[in-house]
Amino acid sequence: MFPSLQDVEAGLRATGYIADSIATTTVYLAARLQKPLLLEGPAGSGKTQLAYAVADAACTTVERLQCYEGINEEKAIGRFDEPLQRLCVDLKTKSSGVDWQSLQTELHSQQFFSAGPLLRALQYEKPCVLLIDELDKVNQAFEALLLELLSVWQLSIPKLGTIKAKSIPFVVLTSNEERRIGDPLRRRSFYLRVEHPTAEREAEIVALRTPDSSREFHAGMAGLAKALRGWSLEKPPSVSEILDFAQALKVLGAERVTAEMRDILLPLLAKTEADRRKLLLRDGFASLVYDAQQYSAKTLRGGIA
Ligand SMILES: Nc1ncnc2c1ncn2[C@@H]1O[C@H](COP(=O)(O)OP(=O)(O)OP(=O)(O)O)[C@@H](O)[C@H]1O
Ligand SMILES: [Mg+2]
Repeated sequence: MFPSLQDVEAGLRATGYIADSIATTTVYLAARLQKPLLLEGPAGSGKTQLAYAVADAACTTVERLQCYEGINEEKAIGRFDEPLQRLCVDLKTKSSGVDWQSLQTELHSQQFFSAGPLLRALQYEKPCVLLIDELDKVNQAFEALLLELLSVWQLSIPKLGTIKAKSIPFVVLTSNEERRIGDPLRRRSFYLRVEHPTAEREAEIVALRTPDSSREFHAGMAGLAKALRGWSLEKPPSVSEILDFAQALKVLGAERVTAEMRDILLPLLAKTEADRRKLLLRDGFASLVYDAQQYSAKTLRGGIA
């Protein structure tokens, strides 16, 4: 998928994904050793996006299985297309001399099977990225289903048989840790924690999204993010929220956050009543802005923005 570590680094960056060296090395090794990558970390920290960035960098497609409570094998692997099977039986029975044995075999072939993302991912000539997103939403039985796929790269489907992979996909499993992913899956995977980025990296991410703004603006957004995350909020902002916030400031024509802007900015920064109250406290917002300025100055001194 990637000839060298430098290809991963350059490829991810070219897609607009800013990863640290631990993440790029882990992606490279997972691709080389054909290991699934288990990504855990807070919401909005770039887990799902990393799978898309890897696919873009490797010029391949993403097959995405979005997990949810109650997901079943049919959704993940696929199922026989019964209306199509019925149509075929109707047509064949109209003509004389139906060979039931061969009809039965035909009806249970892949031609009549509508494949879900797990099966589709095994059928590419060139490896795709298989994103199994929010795996913590499923139960253990469903996890067990993935084990066969991730261990021997095949799927056993009743009546259809065992389908072996034409190419081994690059598998990305993501979790927000609402439920603990079991050890058997952990054992088979490389584990990467995707945390909120450092201020320097966040400034780079903001710079990619708002390239027309100044270095001070990018560092200012990163400083604000760091200050907010150090504020023990119930719901600290994610990278994606900081990007939204930066764009909102641009729309408002503001280059930086000031204490006077508190009331109009609160709906973008505090997402629960408790957090809103906290930032509304006397001097609360003003000291947040002060902290943000300190972090931002430090980021600028670091030379990256
Ligand atoms: N390292 C990064 N480089 C560039 N953009 C990033 C990065 N991290 C996050 N983002 C931005 O944040 C957005 C949200 O990221 P993403 O949806 O991948 O988060 P997530 O960890 O999957 O969140 P959730 O757990 O809520 O699904 C992305 O669309 C992207 O714009
Ligand atoms: Mg996600």
